[in-house]
Amino acid sequence: MPRSIEKSASARRVDPRGSSPSAIPIPTRMELGDLAEVAELESEIFPDPWSADSFLAEVERSEDVGYPVVLRDGTELVAYAVVWFIVDEIHIGNIAVHPDRQGRGVGTALFRHLIDEGRRRRMKFATLEVRPSNTRAVELYRRFGFRQIARRKNYYRTDREDALVFALALDPSAEDRLG
Ligand SMILES: CC(C)(COP(=O)(O)OP(=O)(O)OC[C@H]1O[C@@H](n2cnc3c(N)ncnc32)[C@H](O)[C@@H]1OP(=O)(O)O)[C@@H](O)C(=O)NCCC(=O)NCCS
Repeated sequence: MPRSIEKSASARRVDPRGSSPSAIPIPTRMELGDLAEVAELESEIFPDPWSADSFLAEVERSEDVGYPVVLRDGTELVAYAVVWFIVDEIHIGNIAVHPDRQGRGVGTALFRHLIDEGRRRRMKFATLEVRPSNTRAVELYRRFGFRQIARRKNYYRTDREDALVFALALDPSAEDRLG
């Protein structure tokens, strides 16, 4: 039996396939064998996808600096994410859920796992960049308590959309540094 994270009340959602809500598998570290599928899903989801080589670099990165993960349901790739640990900051560089599995709490569970990992490693902040037009992601991050600390003009190369920089203090002593 795969280990699993039960959906929290806040992640509760009606299953569009009509089945009862099921447990969400626990993410595991991304490996070489995941790369082709991850890169394929990445190009399905994003207009400006990371290349397979970018994911390879993450898999090869030292474990104290990078944490690329996949979430599989059996053999099926459901979601993936990449984070970096930079001094006392965990930066979420990439997170995506398979389009057929979105809106059912997977992103929330994966995001919670990443933030918990940041806390486990005693990071003081979590940061990320998000498109203002990506309301689903923005909602998700706000629900975790993230707030906007900056705006990067014309950040995304494909269409020059700005990026919002979001941050969350993981340690009360870090609140002041967010201004
Ligand atoms: C953003 C993303 C990771 C969220 O994952 P998800 O599994 O769809 O999210 P969840 O089901 O856990 O829902 C999280 C929140 O998103 C919002 N949301 C989810 N489905 C939604 C829908 N169909 N319509 C509007 N908002 C929705 C809600 O605020 C939801 O909170 P709620 O459960 O209280 O309603 C996912 O949608 C995704 O992969 N998007 C494409 C890639 C992407 O944009 N990545 C982020 C880049 S910064």
